[in-house]
Parts: sequence; C-alpha cells; structure tokens
Amino acid sequence: VSKRLTVPDITARKGGRPIVAITAYSALTARLVDRHADLILVGDSVAMVEHGMASTLGATLDMMILHGRSVMRGAARALVTVDLPFGSYEAGPDEAFRSAARVLGETGCTAVKLEGGEAMAGTVAFLAARGVPVVAHIGLTPQAVMALGGFRTQGRARADWDRIRRDAIAVAEAGAFAVVLEGIVEPLAAEITAAIPIPTIGIGASPRCDGQIIVLEDILGLSPRVPRFVKRFGSLGEDADAAIAAYAAAVGDRSFPGPDNVYQPKD
Ligand code: KIV
Ligand code: NA
Repeated sequence: VSKRLTVPDITARKGGRPIVAITAYSALTARLVDRHADLILVGDSVAMVEHGMASTLGATLDMMILHGRSVMRGAARALVTVDLPFGSYEAGPDEAFRSAARVLGETGCTAVKLEGGEAMAGTVAFLAARGVPVVAHIGLTPQAVMALGGFRTQGRARADWDRIRRDAIAVAEAGAFAVVLEGIVEPLAAEITAAIPIPTIGIGASPRCDGQIIVLEDILGLSPRVPRFVKRFGSLGEDADAAIAAYAAAVGDRSFPGPDNVYQPKD
C-alpha cells in the first residue's frame, strides 16, 4: 500500500507535473478515483449532484462529514480535502476553526476548502496557524450564487481583474496551500498561476493552472446538464440506462432470475 500524499507533496507540484484532482462523495467512487487522482475533493457540489438540490447552499456540515467519512474509507493514496459548506465558516475565524476541527477530527481527511479571497484571508490565516491545511477557492464561488446572480464566469471585463488578482494573492499570503480557480477567463487564470507561489487548481480556468479539478459525475457522463467547461470523458449515463432497461425487460419476461441466479436445495 503506497502511502497517502501530503500537503508538501501537493505544494511541491507548483510549476511541475499537473495535479490531478477529482471530486468523490462516497467510498465507491473514491476507490475508482484514488488510483488516478492526487487530490480528492469531497465537494459541497454533493448537495446538487447526489441530493438533487438547486445550489450548494443546502449542504450542511453533517452532510459533508458523512460523505467525508465514506470517501476516507475508499481512498488510500490521494490527499482528501472536504469543503466547508455555506454557513459553517463565514461568521468568523472561530466558527471556521470549530467547523474545520470537526471535519478533520471526524473524517480523518487532510484539508478543508473554503470559498472567498481577500474577505476570507484572515480566516485562512487563523486556520493555517492552527494546523489546518486550507485550500482556497476564488473566481466563480458557487456559495455566492445568489449574490452573483447565477453561475457567471468571472473576469470577462478586464476592470474586474485587479479584484480577482488581489483575492489570489491574499489567500496565498494568508497561508492557503493551494487555490481553486473556478470560472475565470483563461488569460487571467494563467497570469494568477504565474504570479502566486502556491499551486492553482483550475476548473473552467486554464490549462496553464498547476492542476485541474472536475466533478466526477460530469466527466463520466452521468450528469444530465453540464457547464461548457466540462468535457465528458465517458457515457455512463447511457450505459446505466441500457442496463436498467435490460433488467426491467428481463423481470418483465421472467428471463431473470435465470437458473444461475437461483438456489436449489442440497437433497
Ligand atoms: O464542490 C465542488 O465540487 C467544488 C469543485 C468543483 C471545485 O468546489
Ligand atoms: Na465546492
């Protein structure tokens, strides 16, 4: 059994071999992803992908911990990061620390992720100083979907670039060990990657980021609708539909269970 990647293993990848990051919410999917990913994120996207909610705002700390515990049972090699959900950290560093301590203590994961740039820098610093590895998340921050007025790409207007740049620098200086750049125009994501000393992990950002992250169900082809920045690398949705249809037909015509699928008495 190879040992689990550490925070220094991830930060050492700055400017080097790209960091492969994928979400997982369960032991089953974590086992699949663990063979290929350096970092597994237990994303609050679980609220939408697994729980059918319209946004990530309904994710709770208990929900994240339950999924985090499941993922930790399936992943042996990847560094596991769990999202701090909306409402579990924004009130201040104390609240953030209490939530992060529960996540690390109850799941055994290595790091937490939280959304926000300059405004969250004090919180990032507070956590980092107390032994909590933090991944920051800037640009399109889904927990701010109500304020943003939708899932909108950030930095379309160059007038916004300074603010986004400042967010990246602020979380890096505060001690985040990596930062997710989501939904940021490509040249700005590339520029930020070159400008800060910590790895950037892109999603809808740039191939020049230090790594990429994606929602597993989106690349598998299981998600009904995906944003433009997603590429489907598989078609499991169609495979699943065909398998379920075949099962239903076999039940209907009594060809399942067949002789191999039933038990007979010994005598
Ligand atoms: O919740 C999530 O899945 C995420 C990633 C897409 C970055 O935050
Ligand atoms: Na998230």
